[in-house]
Amino acid sequence: MFSFFKKKKPPLPIPTYRVPDFSFLGADMHSHLVPAIDDGSQSLEDSLRFIEALYSLGYRKFITTPHIHGEIYDNDTIKVQNLFKPLKEHLALHHPDMSIQVSAEYFLDTYFLSQVLPKGLMPFGNNNVLVEVSMAGWNRQFHEILFAIQANGYHPILAHPERYIYETKLDVFEQLKERGVLMQMNLLSILGYYGKSIKINAEKMLARGLYDYCGTDLHHERHLSHIQTMPQEHQELMWQLSEYGFKNKEL
Ligand SMILES: [Fe+2]
Repeated sequence: MFSFFKKKKPPLPIPTYRVPDFSFLGADMHSHLVPAIDDGSQSLEDSLRFIEALYSLGYRKFITTPHIHGEIYDNDTIKVQNLFKPLKEHLALHHPDMSIQVSAEYFLDTYFLSQVLPKGLMPFGNNNVLVEVSMAGWNRQFHEILFAIQANGYHPILAHPERYIYETKLDVFEQLKERGVLMQMNLLSILGYYGKSIKINAEKMLARGLYDYCGTDLHHERHLSHIQTMPQEHQELMWQLSEYGFKNKEL
């Protein structure tokens, strides 16, 4: 007999697949979000917008790292902390679920050795400090500077080694790791933002397991918009990165 009562459809299964975001990292430990201190964000409004955008991508903790770079960015601990204060206070008031602290990206040169290191650094995590070197070539005193950093009890993290394209031998980075230098990859490098050779370097370093941390190195809107494409447009890469074992969550 014909029934007026249609058979109720079984409920659709809840999809288990989700687009991966950056919650596998949780913490970003390389960015330029202190307003108007370097070539990064130039206003509190921009910094807040960038942080809120990263929050919606899964980040919950921010260690922001303005440049301290000789006479180009003649910043010091007091200036960095003073300019960071309004950002920290705003977030503490309006976004208590986010954690933010300030450190620096130290450029390693003779100025650093003679003027910056003796006054003390701003470490994070396990007495870590983020350091960068010239894009043009290794500083002749590089090993001496590294030794001085470590002798002062800090653990250096070399920012974006894949961007130092003058160094083609991965063994050099492996030796640095054996010396206790940690390595941080830029997300934008593996995306190809800085060019093909840097992307290839990052792929090789990932394959060798040389990286410890992953950072946005976010300076401005353009960087943000490329990072925002990743969860939707680069899903395979996101899965690979999420399984790599970056240690950002330990920070
Ligand atoms: Fe940076």
